[in-house]
Amino acid sequence: MQIKKVVVIGSGTMGSGIAAQLCNADIPVTLLDLKTEISEKAKDRIYKSKPPLLIDKSKINNINAGNINDDFNVVKEADWIVEAVVEKIDIKHNIYEKIFNNRKTGSIVSSNTSSIPIKILSQNLSDEKKKDFCITHFFNPVRYMGLLEIVKNENNDLKKINHLKKFCEDQLGKGAIICNDTPGFLGNRVGVYSMQVAMTEALRMKLSIEEADTVFGRSMGIPKTGVFGLYDLIGIDLMVDVLKSFIKELPKTDEFQIVAKEIPLVKKLIETGYTGRKGKGGFYRINKTDNKKILEAINLETGEYSPSKKVNLKSEKVDLKSLISRQDKYGQYAWSVISKIIKYASSLVPGITDRFNDIDEAMRLGFNWVKGPFEMLSEIGVENFFSKIDSFENNKFLENLSKTKDENFYGQRQLYTDIETLGKIKPKAIKLDKNDSAEIYRFKDFNIVEFTTKANTLDYNSMDCLKKATDKPLIIINESMQFSAGVNLAYTMNFADKGDFKSIEKFLKHFQETCKHLKYSAHPVVSAPSGLVLGGGFEVLVHSNFVVSHTNIVIGLVETIVGLIPAGGGCKEMLWRWSQTEEAKKDPNFAPLKVFDIIGHAKTTTSPTEAEPLKYLRPEDKKIMNRNSLLPISRNILENNRNFKPPKECKFNLPGKVVKEKMIKVLEKLYNDKAILDHGVEVGKELANVLSGGDTDIDKEINEDQLFKLELDSFMKLMETKKTQERIKHTLKTGKPLIN
Ligand code: NAI
Repeated sequence: MQIKKVVVIGSGTMGSGIAAQLCNADIPVTLLDLKTEISEKAKDRIYKSKPPLLIDKSKINNINAGNINDDFNVVKEADWIVEAVVEKIDIKHNIYEKIFNNRKTGSIVSSNTSSIPIKILSQNLSDEKKKDFCITHFFNPVRYMGLLEIVKNENNDLKKINHLKKFCEDQLGKGAIICNDTPGFLGNRVGVYSMQVAMTEALRMKLSIEEADTVFGRSMGIPKTGVFGLYDLIGIDLMVDVLKSFIKELPKTDEFQIVAKEIPLVKKLIETGYTGRKGKGGFYRINKTDNKKILEAINLETGEYSPSKKVNLKSEKVDLKSLISRQDKYGQYAWSVISKIIKYASSLVPGITDRFNDIDEAMRLGFNWVKGPFEMLSEIGVENFFSKIDSFENNKFLENLSKTKDENFYGQRQLYTDIETLGKIKPKAIKLDKNDSAEIYRFKDFNIVEFTTKANTLDYNSMDCLKKATDKPLIIINESMQFSAGVNLAYTMNFADKGDFKSIEKFLKHFQETCKHLKYSAHPVVSAPSGLVLGGGFEVLVHSNFVVSHTNIVIGLVETIVGLIPAGGGCKEMLWRWSQTEEAKKDPNFAPLKVFDIIGHAKTTTSPTEAEPLKYLRPEDKKIMNRNSLLPISRNILENNRNFKPPKECKFNLPGKVVKEKMIKVLEKLYNDKAILDHGVEVGKELANVLSGGDTDIDKEINEDQLFKLELDSFMKLMETKKTQERIKHTLKTGKPLIN
């Protein structure tokens, strides 16, 4: 049975997220709630959501809105009906009765419950009806969270469940893991336990919330919200409800019970309206005084707020081994938290799953951890772990491992999917080379480059790996969240602080040469991005011969924000793309002015569909819902291009002074409107200089190398100004732009 039409009942946070993702997959969907106004409001929320739930906002009306009384007939036509109403069993039971009385035979009915066991949900259903009923537990926000947990009951038609799993993987882009019917399934059972351990240990060891969030955050490969920030994001009251449900459902002897106990400060926060970001604030709050917004953090002992302090662990990379052996409170906290998480997760094998691998995958896809507990154990080292741990009674997994001490216990990854993902390929590939910023793998007859820095920012070393890897067909791809957030600004600022501009220039030349190499080497190069594709990251992509893009990308040239201009060929390639249009053939000013507008405003887009009109992507670039499929689809492209011929070098006809004057006029207007200040004008002038082709006259042809040179000169000129350096430092410190 094919899934062609879907009805989602309940248009709250989850129902609207699921409907939006179905809309993203071009599946007709109807959203039903108690009243049509509620589903209409949900559509409005979807439309305005940030980050956007829709890949293409113009498709919002492909979601129909209705109510469960007047419009229930749509259920008769649906192939899949998803229930996402409030977590109240009576309401859910009533809805199932109504659905099963109206649905067409064989359609799938599922619940999005996060805590009610399928046994209870389906207790009123006949065996025949149970065949078609399951839990499909999506995570919030649905477009961005990779995990979907599917829970079966004993009567399910397995063929149908597998069909649903495949549909959710291929069309909705989810990592679908089949779970047993145990409280919190896999993701929340381990994820919420981990949060509770991180919180209770921070209290016990008297860490500040900033300290705890720094350790139980980026330094452990966990999103930077850590634990207290994540509590605020989810809602402190909601978290307490989740804990109550775990306390009720889990056996009294379960370790979870110990960390789920009520915390007086949490109770007080909820009572006083401090329920997190949706309330007055939470563990963190924004204090608005004298027109200034100050981020404050709560003192866990006194409950008082004071300005939040940054904690610097002085380590750029995730390095668990070093982290847990630090001789300070951070090391002790990290070890205490990690060891408890590993102990708890492994105690669930084989009870809640016989595949420990699935727990790791649930943590990566559902909580955005870089590594799950078992991969953490593998990284720490089995011998090392057992030399530090005190006890592990009643834990079959650890008992066995303590006997075998097998450092290679981990085996294969991503067992939940049949797709040949990067995670599955890497262990089978040969690691050809590696430096601090990237790694090169050889698999069969092609190379893979994976960037390995924080947010995959780029430096000299990243370029080294890329350049070396073009000796074979190449795929640039990675497993971490971002393709690349651009050039490493801290790296360039380090040189600038020392007045060593020669080194910056050397790096840029290397960057440009590498990009040219990617474009013109004898072998095809595929970029397969997901997440951020900004600045230098975009320049790597735009010089690749093929692109296979995940639908969740944020792409654009953002250099002007920090007072620079793209100098890795970004201006050049955008000019080339726009000069191929019909308009450009009629008007020589068209392409330079268009690119001036796009780069000058540092335009970014949040999906491939939005990126195409700006020509950040081309119509022939592939747009893929499931991130896991990026590698196999890139491989297909290499396979189909065995007789690849590199493109011809581009030649440009740029109108020089004529268009430069027009650009200066645009800058003057922006300046008069106070949209930009003095330095903005300087940056704009340099951009105008590059995009007009410098001082060329119309009809004078210039080549790529000349454009590269223009980019380099303008970049260096700006880099040497105090105002650009101020902007960069400000952005590095606060993550926000400085307008000067
Ligand atoms: P919500 O409170 O945002 O939305 C629930 C919606 O159901 C409301 O719009 C409400 O008007 C509607 N509703 C109530 N009774 C109804 C009825 N009889 N017929 C039709 N609509 C009705 O709830 P949320 O957060 O979207 O949760 C929905 C389900 O998803 C729950 O089972 C929850 O446990 C689960 N879930 C929630 C997650 C989250 O992060 N919020 C994550 C994963 C699962």
